[in-house]
Amino acid sequence: MNVTVFGTGYVGLVQAAVLAEAGHRVACIDIDQEKIDRLKQGQIPIFEPGLAPLVKRNHESGNLIFSTSAAEGVAHGDLIFIAVGTPPDEDGSADLRYVLTVARTIAEHMEGKKYIINKSTVPVGTADKVREEVTRTLRERNALNLEFDVISNPEFLKEGSAVADCMKPDRIIIGTSENASEQKMRQLYAPFNRNHDKVIVMDVRSAELAKYAANCMLATKISFMNEMAVIADKVGADIEAVRQGIGSDPRIGYHFIYPGIGYGGSCFPKDVQALKTTATQLGIEPKVLNAVEERNHSQKHYLLDKVVQRYGDDLAGKTFALWGLAFKPNTDDMREAPARVLMEELWRRGARVQAFDPEAMEECQRIYGARPDLQLCGTKESALTNAEALIIATEWQQFKAIDVAAVTSGLNTPVIFDGRNLYDPLQVAESGIEYHCVGRPE
Ligand code: UGA
Repeated sequence: MNVTVFGTGYVGLVQAAVLAEAGHRVACIDIDQEKIDRLKQGQIPIFEPGLAPLVKRNHESGNLIFSTSAAEGVAHGDLIFIAVGTPPDEDGSADLRYVLTVARTIAEHMEGKKYIINKSTVPVGTADKVREEVTRTLRERNALNLEFDVISNPEFLKEGSAVADCMKPDRIIIGTSENASEQKMRQLYAPFNRNHDKVIVMDVRSAELAKYAANCMLATKISFMNEMAVIADKVGADIEAVRQGIGSDPRIGYHFIYPGIGYGGSCFPKDVQALKTTATQLGIEPKVLNAVEERNHSQKHYLLDKVVQRYGDDLAGKTFALWGLAFKPNTDDMREAPARVLMEELWRRGARVQAFDPEAMEECQRIYGARPDLQLCGTKESALTNAEALIIATEWQQFKAIDVAAVTSGLNTPVIFDGRNLYDPLQVAESGIEYHCVGRPE
């Protein structure tokens, strides 16, 4: 099938590459000329495992083309994805400017029936707004005879495993009331819908809400566990034992109940905030979502509170090693990363930071630039040199086995603050390292 994807961000690019791999002919359209030029040369703007070879292969085969020409994009695809950004507005609601601009562009150039698919995470009611925008533009063109449908097809991929998630989706939600649209979408996703039917068809508004409900439910699980961890700390229980104890109940499950120092990334914080705003605008007090957000905010300070308890509030003259800058492993994304709160709070108290991350060093440099209280180190070992203590903010695989020799010889005094509960506290204690973690007896 001929498909067009507007927006070459995370969602758009991954979706486009995966659809091309399945044999569809996909045109990726973006207004950023430099980005498109780089994509044509096989340069991927984000770090995402498996994406670069996929893009390269399909670009070379001709299944994946890149262009800045909206007209070309609209002419190419019967199915047109809108996968542009929806940054938060000042009031926390999603800014639909880019989504509606694409809607208008499609209507300006379309000459036959188009299936317009909302892939961006957008508030309930957006499909109707897209429909209105397209209708308005067609009216201006005197072309109301041209048919179209607006379908909601939310994305559920995770950064770091985006390609795999897209290749093997748990579910394919299709929000439409038109039979023809359902059939088109089923045909599009047929290569990914092999063993059992993963397609769930519903009305547009339910599909839009399902996306927010999924992310907010996951954020709720995390904030709940983080609160349990704080309680565990105070009552002398071990949250890791509690986690296993409750996860064994299939109604709760083992997924997404890992306590830590708060969720980050571009999705959970933004989506919780956006759904809160939607609820508030409708006169509903979002009590659960308020609590989820509040817990996440304080959790990001939790490890720092332990540092302050140990060293006092004035950290001037002290250097801390920081392992992990990305908001989670396998990405270079530092949006809303707990590591940022940690670093900024350490700086505020006068401390220096020696940081290492396997992928996010460039991103850190881009965000903070050169500053005397930040040293980006080439290896995790060199970050330890002459530091007061080690702080772990991201659970990268290479941090998971404790290197007692490196920690004891590198640090001034062997102290670890672990925001991801990577190590066994007893084992660490036996090796003579002072260990502070989240919700476990220390
Ligand atoms: C999330 C959802 O998991 C995807 O299903 C969704 O499609 C995506 O948002 C989106 O809306 O685009 P993502 O933000 O890439 O994906 O990352 P997650 O793997 O969900 O992690 C989010 C945060 O939760 C991370 O900071 C992670 O460290 C934290 N987390 C996750 C925990 O603290 N504990 C857990 O048990 C799991």
